[in-house]
Amino acid sequence: MKLKYSLFTRRQFLNGLFGGWLGALMVSFLYPVIKFVFPPTREPDQVILPFLDFKDMKPNSVKVFSWGSKPGFVKKNKNGSYWAFVAVCTHLDCNVTYIPEQRKFFCACHDGWYDENGTNIGGPPPRPLRRLILIIEGEDLIIKREGVK
Ligand code: FES
Repeated sequence: MKLKYSLFTRRQFLNGLFGGWLGALMVSFLYPVIKFVFPPTREPDQVILPFLDFKDMKPNSVKVFSWGSKPGFVKKNKNGSYWAFVAVCTHLDCNVTYIPEQRKFFCACHDGWYDENGTNIGGPPPRPLRRLILIIEGEDLIIKREGVK
């Protein structure tokens, strides 16, 4: 069946098509830029991980887990206890690494150092690494923010 009248002209159709394409292109460029400039800062209240993944850790070692959009460390101490830290430097939020030979956490951004307890001992970090509450409950390793019940 052929239509007698069109709702829009060929020029209007092409303008609409081009405008939609241009709009989609702009959104696809701006969305990552906006997410980069204004990253989501909301942290989880808690994460629950299978304890089995951490049970066989050697003393004086760390394992990384995801704490929202940031990395976290579960550290097994010499006495077999576990601690959890947010693995982000307290200076300018760079990621921190653990050096088992020196028993220290290190931030490569500005040469920041923390001891094995997360206490800031050298460089510009103004505060210790942020500790998280760690509870082992049956098969679960529950890691919580302070103040969360
Ligand atoms: S961000 Fe870690 S020392 Fe500056």
